Amino acid sequence: MNIVLLGPPGAGKGTQAIRISAHFDIPHISTGDIFRRAVAQKTALGLKAKEFMDRGDLVPDEVVIGIVKQRLEEPDCSTGFLLDGFPRTVPQAEALVDALTVGGRALDKVLNIEVDRDELIRRLTGRRTCRGCGKVFHLIFDPPKSSTTCDICGGALWQREDDSEETVINRLKVYEAQTAPLVDFYRAQGLLVAVDGRQPVEVVFSRIDEILHA
Ligand code: AP5
Ligand code: MG
Ligand code: ZN
Repeated sequence: MNIVLLGPPGAGKGTQAIRISAHFDIPHISTGDIFRRAVAQKTALGLKAKEFMDRGDLVPDEVVIGIVKQRLEEPDCSTGFLLDGFPRTVPQAEALVDALTVGGRALDKVLNIEVDRDELIRRLTGRRTCRGCGKVFHLIFDPPKSSTTCDICGGALWQREDDSEETVINRLKVYEAQTAPLVDFYRAQGLLVAVDGRQPVEVVFSRIDEILHA
């Protein structure tokens, strides 16, 4: 099962990806997570990506495409994968087709998680992540017992640098300009399935589960 999760910042791609990946036993590939790890480890990639991420702009295609191509060649992707946050531009989507075609593979479905703008801003500005175990909370929609400590591992909760309201607004603008065209791109190929992302997390997941079993 080769799946792409599409949707604006804050739509719930990461939240659903964890569930899909566990349920269907396919690797979850999040380019955002790959970059955040590289930034934390201060690698050359991290140093390059950080300036774009902090502004809410996209990391250049040539940097992202190479990383994803390499990741898709790893053995755990041979029976399926779930891409979260890639592709994000038409050139990335075209590069993905090429990379998969070489190995006789193709995408099975593209799930487009739809959420309105006001809700996206609420979700992003209230998100908190555990430094210890990576669990993602929301101050209102999935509140930790304490706003500074993880319920599960006791780790410190942090707010992503790009989740300030100012940067969120730029990320939404960048999404409209560069990523939204992929909706038509994938619709034209008959791969797109819309998912109402405004429902509670478990309701969204059951809908995705239904779509992927269909
Ligand atoms: P990335 O990390 O991919 O960020 P994003 O696409 O902006 O999406 P988010 O991770 O912010 O949102 P999400 O949809 O995963 O929502 P989540 O599930 O966490 O990218 C970050 C940056 O990296 C980019 O800006 C760019 O610079 C760079 N980058 C990454 N990929 C790139 C690429 N391919 N090309 C170029 N640059 C790239 O949920 C959000 C919050 O809402 C959480 O608090 C959650 O608890 C809550 N929530 C989730 N679902 C629900 C629900 N159903 N109801 C209520 N609350 C919910
Ligand atoms: Mg995410
Ligand atoms: Zn934790």
